[in-house]
Amino acid sequence: MYKVAVIPGDGTGPEQVNEGLKVLEAAQEKFNFKMETVEYDLGGERYLRSGDILLEHELEELKNFDAIFLGAIGHPDVKPGILEKGLLLELRFKLDQYINLRPVKLYPGVYTPIKDKEPQDIDFVIVRENTESLYSGAGGFMRKDTPQEIAVQESINTRYGVERCLRYAYDYCRTKRQRKKLTLCGKTNVLTYSADLWMRVFEELGLSYPEVERDYAHVDAIVMWMVKNPEWFDVIVTDNMFGDIITDLGAMIQGGMGIAAGGNIHPGRVSMFEPIGGSAPKYTGQGIINPLASICAGAMMLDFFGETEAAESIEQAVGDVCKNKLESLNAGAMGYSTSEVGDLVVESL
Ligand code: IPM
Ligand code: MN
Repeated sequence: MYKVAVIPGDGTGPEQVNEGLKVLEAAQEKFNFKMETVEYDLGGERYLRSGDILLEHELEELKNFDAIFLGAIGHPDVKPGILEKGLLLELRFKLDQYINLRPVKLYPGVYTPIKDKEPQDIDFVIVRENTESLYSGAGGFMRKDTPQEIAVQESINTRYGVERCLRYAYDYCRTKRQRKKLTLCGKTNVLTYSADLWMRVFEELGLSYPEVERDYAHVDAIVMWMVKNPEWFDVIVTDNMFGDIITDLGAMIQGGMGIAAGGNIHPGRVSMFEPIGGSAPKYTGQGIINPLASICAGAMMLDFFGETEAAESIEQAVGDVCKNKLESLNAGAMGYSTSEVGDLVVESL
């Protein structure tokens, strides 16, 4: 029995989560496992109502689940940064979810803005470090609000954090991928401390993974090649800040926010799975948001549980629906409503 905390969140989050759960229900019947869900009312609505973002006891409770299934956090009436820092990053940090896993996979029939690229060309995974780098919150102001103001934002990279991230990436590459090519994405020509640490640990650890091919690219080169030659990549590993940027480029080349999902992972502990597109408040309540990203997040969660067959079958069903049914992945242009798309995936499953 898997225990899952569900945070539907804001905007279209609840609509997306409904379809994700619908498919997870169907998968339970077909693959014979059980999931128990408890819903948590967290997000912008509740913050505006009560002033609370995440209470201590809620955080403690969340630690007792196997996973968190998240819709989206973000509310037009809440100042940017408050919910991101107070809830999303807070959960990632306090639950020590040190990996942000982002598959970039073009499903058949899905439009990619990159000309002449096929599903076999766009099929890689980004492993983003999820607790350090410029996201650590280290830094400060000096002489604030004066003409001599100084703002320092520090990139923290610990050997411990870098090593566990790289180890995860190597293990993932070895056990989950056919090609077994791991590309470190950094900026060694300028970041002579942080990128240097990453490179040294990358090479050190690599000695224990002889079956994994090692490759390195500067981040500015990676963004060119992800567009020009996405087929070069199998698994890319990188720090939190670079990872934030390149994962959104990844989302775009795989067909956009309608399909892009991610996992915030600490192996063996409560991990969090989400569609990465955000709350898309302008579409709220219209039943036109694409739920495939949430459905894919559900598949990632099952894979994390070790329900590999169920996870793969959901992915296949998503591929089938993309190829044979949907007119497009964009909200309002799918040719079906949000819940109809969920039904189509269940049917295919
Ligand atoms: C993401 C998001 C978050 C991040 C924001 C919402 C804080 O962009 O999951 O990539 O920067 O990590
Ligand atoms: Mn981001």
